[in-house]
Amino acid sequence: MSENLRFDGRVVVITGAGSGLGRAYALEFAKRGAKIVVNDLGGSVKGEGKSTRAADEVAEMVRNAGSVAAVNYDSVENGDKIIKTAIDAFGRVDIIINNAGILRDVSMLKMTSSDWDTIINVHLKGTFSVTKAAWKYFKDQGYGRIVNTSSGSGIYGNFGQANYGAAKMGIHGFTQVLAKEGEKYNIKANSICPVAASRMTQDLFTPELMELLVPEKIVPFVVCLCHESCKENGGLFEVAGGWFTRLRWQRAQGAFLKGKFTAEDVKKEWTKVNCFNGLNDYPTGTQDTIGKIISFSSENAKPKL
Ligand SMILES: NC(=O)c1ccc[n+]([C@@H]2O[C@H](COP(=O)([O-])OP(=O)(O)OC[C@H]3O[C@@H](n4cnc5c(N)ncnc54)[C@H](O)[C@@H]3O)[C@@H](O)[C@H]2O)c1
Repeated sequence: MSENLRFDGRVVVITGAGSGLGRAYALEFAKRGAKIVVNDLGGSVKGEGKSTRAADEVAEMVRNAGSVAAVNYDSVENGDKIIKTAIDAFGRVDIIINNAGILRDVSMLKMTSSDWDTIINVHLKGTFSVTKAAWKYFKDQGYGRIVNTSSGSGIYGNFGQANYGAAKMGIHGFTQVLAKEGEKYNIKANSICPVAASRMTQDLFTPELMELLVPEKIVPFVVCLCHESCKENGGLFEVAGGWFTRLRWQRAQGAFLKGKFTAEDVKKEWTKVNCFNGLNDYPTGTQDTIGKIISFSSENAKPKL
């Protein structure tokens, strides 16, 4: 039984908690004293169909672990219903783990609007919808923790996943805005890029990798991000098989051209545009960009001695 990072009295909403990572989160939070809303639509990996079975089974496992669970079978696109389940059952919501997800992998040439919309709706709109419904409670109580689920597919790109990659990168953009808006209310939002054995990845990984990448190796990091002691806000973390690391933006040397200039002038600067050598410039806001341009402009405005 655990330990220092306790969640007694806290209510955690876990979307897509019926299998894979979501189920593993639910079982760990149960051991740590949280009350849990187990949400799952119960469809296939492609998002077809629905069922109450997966959510019911996990809720039962949470109760067997000595905690309390409320079950919700709505799609994350209806976030207000999921948060209502938390409020009706427990009177509050403290933590949301936006985890539900599906895949519709297909190359760009063959991707239909329906493939695109379905993925954007479940991942990006779903993450927004649940967060939007919880936000007013977080703001009023001066407390909230949000973990959003991004993916290397969005960060790096992955063949056949234009829809999924766009949604997952969009989710991290969303996280970064939440972090800035939520900071003064003690609402912290972070994104993870997990790699884990689940029904989503079982056809991609060898049996050895499936064993190495069990969801339980993601869970401790997410527990840290959800705890009241967590100071992280707006972070993006790769988490897989016992490996935990932060990702961030790095700016190259860049080039600044004054006055009028042509495409040919820009082309001559290409090396500087791409040069990271020896530079430690890690921007965190658009003010960094504007500040840089103002400082270049004013340097150029100074009379040369
Ligand atoms: N497994 C990986 O390597 C990996 C990598 C990067 C990102 N992810 C992301 O991690 C999250 C969890 O994935 P997983 O690997 O555990 O897969 P999983 O298929 O085991 O779990 C996803 C769960 O979400 C539920 N779900 C799907 N659509 C829903 C909806 N509209 N509303 C509510 N519930 C819904 C499913 O029923 C399922 O139980 C997903 O967002 C996925 O995109 C996973």
